[in-house]
Amino acid sequence: MDGPLAAFIFSWRVIIREDSTAVSDYIADYIISRIKTFKPTESQPFVLGLPTGSSPEVIYKILVQRFRAGEISFKNVVTFNMDEYVGIPRDHPESYHSFMYKHFFSHVDIPPQNINILDGNAPDLAAECASYEARIARFGGIELFLGGVGPDGHIAFNEPGSSLSSRTRVKTLAYDTILANSRFFDNDIDRVPRHALTVGIQTIMDAREVVIVATGPHKAVAVQKGLEGGINHMWTLSALQLHRHPLVVCDRDATLELKVKTVRYFESIEQTGTDARTQGPPLVYRPRTYVPAPINISKPRQQPTPNDTPQKVPKDLRINTELQRQMEEEELTPDSMSSRLVDSAVGGFDAALRGDVSFDRMGARVASH
Ligand code: GLP
Repeated sequence: MDGPLAAFIFSWRVIIREDSTAVSDYIADYIISRIKTFKPTESQPFVLGLPTGSSPEVIYKILVQRFRAGEISFKNVVTFNMDEYVGIPRDHPESYHSFMYKHFFSHVDIPPQNINILDGNAPDLAAECASYEARIARFGGIELFLGGVGPDGHIAFNEPGSSLSSRTRVKTLAYDTILANSRFFDNDIDRVPRHALTVGIQTIMDAREVVIVATGPHKAVAVQKGLEGGINHMWTLSALQLHRHPLVVCDRDATLELKVKTVRYFESIEQTGTDARTQGPPLVYRPRTYVPAPINISKPRQQPTPNDTPQKVPKDLRINTELQRQMEEEELTPDSMSSRLVDSAVGGFDAALRGDVSFDRMGARVASH
């Protein structure tokens, strides 16, 4: 259904899997199924939008395996990559050109002329962006755009604050992104390019279907903002709430900030197969393996008798009035989330364990992942 009402009835479809391998498997299956159903030909190719980053790496690996097994051909597939750094040579190991050939294009049968990647060294970057949009239009638009998401919720390089109606253009990278991507540049932020060419939010919105991969706890806030938050240019993932066919496939860690209610709702949709918008492989409910704790059956439990009731209240259950007074007298000092995590999480552990368990701050995990 199209038209003004469409925006109100279409929203996220969410698939949750236990880990990133299962997520990659699902997405690879999904893409293969969509290409096969489309039955592309040379004159009517399947137009696929593609991302870079750590998240899609395994997806590409599986697609290559499936190609080698003869299950899929990319002969009649045309690709458009989401983005590219500005100012690093095309053959730089961290350019997105290098990434795509290394992980995907060199291993499958896609004809070189079907591959489209923005040129971050073009003499006229604005003209390069305009011609990219024109090329997409010449192919009749993108059928399926696969994307990742940054820890700050960006899709492609549409950093927080990007216009939701943006098209392919030059973007200055946000500090968070430079920091996150410095892991590919020997952790030296000075070596990370400051600019990139990227498709816009509107370019992605124009695709007939968008599939987002989100794995790891460092993506949990972005997933929460994108799915449960309002449509907001500070979390550009959220723009997809207005898309007709947006699908996010995430692992359990990426759902950590979602409400239990939200997770259960999306799981129930998958379990009952009630999502009429499914375009990929049929929804198959894969129950999680549940291993119940062993029950001690050697000693049957008896109902307590009045004689079992302790005469005295155990020491632990008595109110420590001294501690209570001490707490009331102490001045309230604001603490950080990380200090509370350490206290509460380690507090219940045996003393012997304390030395082995260290909790890091969310910020540190985001930067180091
Ligand atoms: C970069 C890319 C994005 C990608 C993001 C997350 O900023 N421009 O397209 O989604 O990184 O990448 P990763 O999957 O490595 O976390």
